[in-house]
Amino acid sequence: MIFCMSYNVSMFYLIANWKAHMTQDGVNEWLKIFKNEYVPSEHISIIICPPIIQLETLASHLESVKNVFLGVQDTSRFPRGSFTGETPAELLPTYVRYGIIGHAERRQYFGETNTDVAEKVKQLAARTIKPIVCVRSSADTVPSQSQLVAYEPESSIGSDRAAPVEEAVETKKNLHLTAEQLFIYGGNVNKDTVHGFVKSNEVSGFLVGRASLNPRDLLSIASKCVV
Ligand code: PGA
Repeated sequence: MIFCMSYNVSMFYLIANWKAHMTQDGVNEWLKIFKNEYVPSEHISIIICPPIIQLETLASHLESVKNVFLGVQDTSRFPRGSFTGETPAELLPTYVRYGIIGHAERRQYFGETNTDVAEKVKQLAARTIKPIVCVRSSADTVPSQSQLVAYEPESSIGSDRAAPVEEAVETKKNLHLTAEQLFIYGGNVNKDTVHGFVKSNEVSGFLVGRASLNPRDLLSIASKCVV
């Protein structure tokens, strides 16, 4: 059996970005199915990034589930202090292990810049929360503390067209990642679009939006990451 991994990194990452979709009833239903049908693989880490208010529910159900971790979809660029409405990294529960930073939607709707991204990455890194930095192209900056770097072309996010594998590989090359930084692809990832990426052996994981809202779809993607 050949496992889908790149370089000598033996772990493949499936990052579920729930955005602002899931209701509390939806979380309970998702958990029921996921816990029932999930079979851990020592080669796949599943990182669930729900809205912050749903973290606690997920943590209480998934704490002892192997290779499943929790993440946030954003963090404040500020430390703890008088910043109304913000959620600084320092206030996140210790079970939060990852944080998505610089998603294209944050850049588009909230005006986030590469400078904001760099500040946020610093805040997460200071809490030893692993930053998953999203870039729209190789023109976006990758801060040095980024551990997972997700290429998500805007034309693919929320669309029915994943980027061609060759385009992703070209972007990876142009990003000049360090040996410690893993390349992730995102944008219309589902069970029918992953094959070429997996086969290329050039990606270390996927950032999954819509398909992660259905636990069976997410698990189906996971099953395709082992060929
Ligand atoms: P999608 O979203 O999988 O629904 O295209 C991906 C993302 O925005 O992270």
